Parts: sequence; C-alpha cells; structure tokens
Amino acid sequence: MSEKLVGRELKENKLDTLLRVDNYTPDFDPEKEPILRVEHLKQYFKSTKAVDDVSFTIQKGEVFGLVGESGCGKTTTGRSIIGLYEINDGDVFFRGKRIGMGVDAMKRWKKAYAEAKAAGDRAKMDELKKDKVIHKDLMTKIQMIFQDPVGSLDPRMTVREIIAEGLKIRGIRDKRFIEDRVAEVLEKVGLVPEHAERYPHEFSGGQRQRIGIARAIVLQPDLIIADEPISALDVSIQAQVINLMNDLRDEMGLTIMFIAHDLSVVKYFSDRIGVMYYGKMVELADSDELFAHPLHPYTRSLLSAIPLPDPNYEKRRKRITYVPSLTHDYTKEGPTFKEVLPGHFVLCNTAEFEKYQAEIVEMDANARRKQQ
Ligand SMILES: Nc1ncnc2c1ncn2[C@@H]1O[C@H](COP(=O)(O)OP(=O)(O)OP(=O)(O)O)[C@@H](O)[C@H]1O
Ligand SMILES: [Mg+2]
Repeated sequence: MSEKLVGRELKENKLDTLLRVDNYTPDFDPEKEPILRVEHLKQYFKSTKAVDDVSFTIQKGEVFGLVGESGCGKTTTGRSIIGLYEINDGDVFFRGKRIGMGVDAMKRWKKAYAEAKAAGDRAKMDELKKDKVIHKDLMTKIQMIFQDPVGSLDPRMTVREIIAEGLKIRGIRDKRFIEDRVAEVLEKVGLVPEHAERYPHEFSGGQRQRIGIARAIVLQPDLIIADEPISALDVSIQAQVINLMNDLRDEMGLTIMFIAHDLSVVKYFSDRIGVMYYGKMVELADSDELFAHPLHPYTRSLLSAIPLPDPNYEKRRKRITYVPSLTHDYTKEGPTFKEVLPGHFVLCNTAEFEKYQAEIVEMDANARRKQQ
C-alpha cells in the first residue's frame, strides 16, 4: 500500500482502487460481523482511568452515539481507536482485522505463544501469529473529526492544504488531481471551490466544522469518528451540520461514531447509543430501546436534563442527580455488563439486573396504559 501514484496511473483511475478498502479486506462481510469491534479497552493516564474496560461494536452503515458528561472518556475512546495512544489493554478490530492491541493484551499473547511453543502446537502458534498482526494500512479508513474546530485546523495552512494533507501522505502528488478532489469535497460539504485559497480564520465556526468534515472524507473513509462536531456551534448551525452528516452517510455509505455529551443531540441521529460514566460504559442499546427503557440511574439523570416541548411533562420534570455511592451497593457483588433485553446492556450486579427486569415490565405496562 506504499505505492506512490503519479500522473499516468492516476489517469488509469488507480486512486479509486487504492482508496477502496474492500480490496484488502475482501473477506469482510458486514452482514456477519461489525465494522468496528472494541474489546475491553483500557486507557489510563497515571491514576486516571480515562477508559476502563469498555467494549462495544459498530455495524456498517449505522450511527453509533457515544454520550456522557465532560471527562468521562469519550474523546480518549475515539483517540485510542485511531491509534493515537499505546493502549493499556484491550483489542480493536476494524473490518474483522486487528488495528489495536493493548500492552497487557500483548503480554497475555506472549504467554500463550510460549505455551503453544512449549507444547509443540504448530497450529496454535500460527493462529496466534496471525492474530497479532496489526493492520496499520486500514487506519486511513477511519477518520476523526476533532472536537475543537478552531484548534484542529492549522491557521498557517490554506483550506486546500488542510484538506489535501491526507492525499499527500498517501503519496498522491498530482496537482491537478488534488485540486479537483479538494473542489469536489468542498462542494460535498456545502462550501465552494473558491474557499480553497482561504485560511481557517476567515470562516465561521460552522464553516470551519465543514472544513474538518471535508478533510475527514477526502480519503473516502469507511468510518468517521465525529467528536462533538457541533457542541461549539450555534443551535441553528448545529442542525445544518447534522443534516450534512446525514446526507454524507447516505451518499458515501459512511459509518459514524458520534460523540456528544447530551442525549438530546444523539437521540434522532443515532441508531444505537452507548452511555459512558467515568471511564465505564454503563448502558448500551438501540436508540428507541434506550428511550423506552432507560435503566441505569446515570442514563436517567441524563434524560432528566432534556427539556421536552410538552408543558405537562415540563411541570413534572425533575433533574435527577446521579450519586453512585448512594445508588449502588457493590459491597457484596460488583457490576458487570449484562444483557437485560436482546442488544440492551447495562452495567449492574445480579440484584440490580433483577430489579431492572421488573422495571421493564412496569414501564411497558405504563406505556400501554397511556396509549389506551
Ligand atoms: N493526554 C492526557 N493526559 C492525561 N490525562 C488525560 C489526557 N487526555 C485525557 N485525560 C483525562 O482523561 C479523562 C477523560 O478525558 P476525555 O477527554 O476522554 O473526556 P471526554 O469525555 O472527551 O470529555 P469532554 O466532554 O470534556 O470532551 C479526563 O479525566 C481527562 O482529564
Ligand atoms: Mg472530549
């Protein structure tokens, strides 16, 4: 994949071949396996367990919302996936191939390999060797839109240089080609080709976020990790950027991991939602399911913060504050991620699991009563 592309080859349209990830993951079947699989991810900074044993999957074509308050580890999760850190533990797979392996996971691998070797188990040794390979090439198929639209765009670079950077890193030098491609993505994100000559400070917040999106899509990624792409924007502009991302998703078949700290933003945009609290995933379900049966007290506290255009509801709405020490009793049994309904997981112990099962029945009965 280190192939450098120059004029004639470009004309022969090799770029599209180069950019099409299917060429080197031909055995990936989105019907059978998720596009992204994160298993027991841990990322610690000294004593801060920024991400602490987090697992989830993302299916091809879906929008996966990751929510939680400031500091709960959302950005760190995204940055760990794209390989910006040496992760402490866990495994990350993209299109069925490994793209990340934690330091502790590697230690376990070494032990398993030594054991297989001592036992003379060739088949196991081969299997382990294959499992260890990190497919760095695949990483370009995951692009991140960064949280801060001002800080993430180099003020000394023109919009063209910013967007073309990824192409140049991939070895593409053809000026004409780069120009065309930059113009094409600028139009895709609702800007005009003339904007390519300007510098980031000449744009509004919403436009800068569009530049960030253009930079992310220029390499035709499969998965975009959008880290709070709209939280710095005015409400009126937020809807525009969400609509843009929705259009791109349809047009380019993108899969999106959408990070936000507020459930109201991800509610309509996400197919599934994961709720994080201080490094842990506390609840994960289909969007509709999460709103029909919010179970973890932290999810409920996030929900209680969303105003609704219903005066009766608003009169009764009370902000719930989540205080873990007053809410859970984990002295006898700690929590694990349990499946309370198909595809709906909650971090809980056995007693809580049973309580949640009863609450689901109650919520359904209430919902039926309301409908009648
Ligand atoms: N590079 C770093 N070095 C040390 N600590 C870090 C680093 N990056 C993040 N942290 C810490 O890890 C925790 C999680 O941070 P992270 O940025 O992932 O949270 P977040 O959920 O994205 O928050 P926000 O909504 O404010 O963006 C925080 O306590 C943060 O201070
Ligand atoms: Mg963040």
